[in-house]
Amino acid sequence: MSSLLSITDIKDDVKDILELAVKIKSGDVEDKPLDGKTLAMIFQKSSTRTRVSFDVGMYQLGGRAIFLSSNDLQMGRGEPIKDTAKVLSRFVDGIMIRAIKHSDVEELAKYSDVPVINGLTDLEHPCQALADALTIKEHFGQCEGKKICFVGDGNNVSNSLLLIAPLLKMDISIACPKGYEPREDIVKTSLEYASENNTEVTITDDIGVALQNVDVVYTDVWVSMGDEAEQKQRELDFAPFQVNSDLMSLANDGAIFMHCLPAIRGQEVTSEVIDGEQSVVYDEAENRMHAQKAVLYYYLKA
Ligand code: CP
Ligand code: NVA
Repeated sequence: MSSLLSITDIKDDVKDILELAVKIKSGDVEDKPLDGKTLAMIFQKSSTRTRVSFDVGMYQLGGRAIFLSSNDLQMGRGEPIKDTAKVLSRFVDGIMIRAIKHSDVEELAKYSDVPVINGLTDLEHPCQALADALTIKEHFGQCEGKKICFVGDGNNVSNSLLLIAPLLKMDISIACPKGYEPREDIVKTSLEYASENNTEVTITDDIGVALQNVDVVYTDVWVSMGDEAEQKQRELDFAPFQVNSDLMSLANDGAIFMHCLPAIRGQEVTSEVIDGEQSVVYDEAENRMHAQKAVLYYYLKA
């Protein structure tokens, strides 16, 4: 049974999933396609968007979702992931998990008899990247030929963007301080996809270089969940990388501002930018649900 743990799992399906998301968002889908289906949602970390968008998305498709906090699950008391996967598979039709360690999600998927969907790990956030691509497609009419600049560290969000951008024929640059670059294996795969799709991938600590010919300026918190011990150092290192009006002026006219949210105004982005005319952050958040409904349809519809 296939699962969605990484954008690499949908290398050949990204475009179809996005087309389906557009159709589903416009209401062009049969009534209750997931009637009688149940999604288990395991959360080891906090969430607003992921939890609510999956829950409401399942409901709108005619199914239901069950919220499972890892604090309450026996898994939180040490029950093996294998047993959790095997048992949940007897009850539900799919498992969405937000986990601390990506390897735990891989193990869950290995033993699960139903699809597992990654709702964020330390390595990737594929559902976020799908929603982001949908937002870019809606705003510009297409993804192809556009360029994203992610300003921030090599984290779950930028990793998934690095992988999805070339698959949709978008250029991508990452502007990050030295020492905070994305993992080598992610960059390698991104470069392979870029070479197959004739697009560019740039990793640099030079903001001016990263922002050349950019249509989408994207940022995320400087301190992701789990990185709290590095907070003070990160605030110092990332200060020159704040997305403010001066930084936005380096992007193309008509460029948009994106952020996966939650955001910290005054740190990675100023209020002027996130609350300004170029910002599409609430469309982006809404699109989590539309993109994920396409994912749920794709993976759970028998
Ligand atoms: N962007 C995102 O995943 O938000 P939540 O942490 O609120 O789910
Ligand atoms: N990179 C952030 C994304 C939150 C949705 C984190 O992992 O905390």
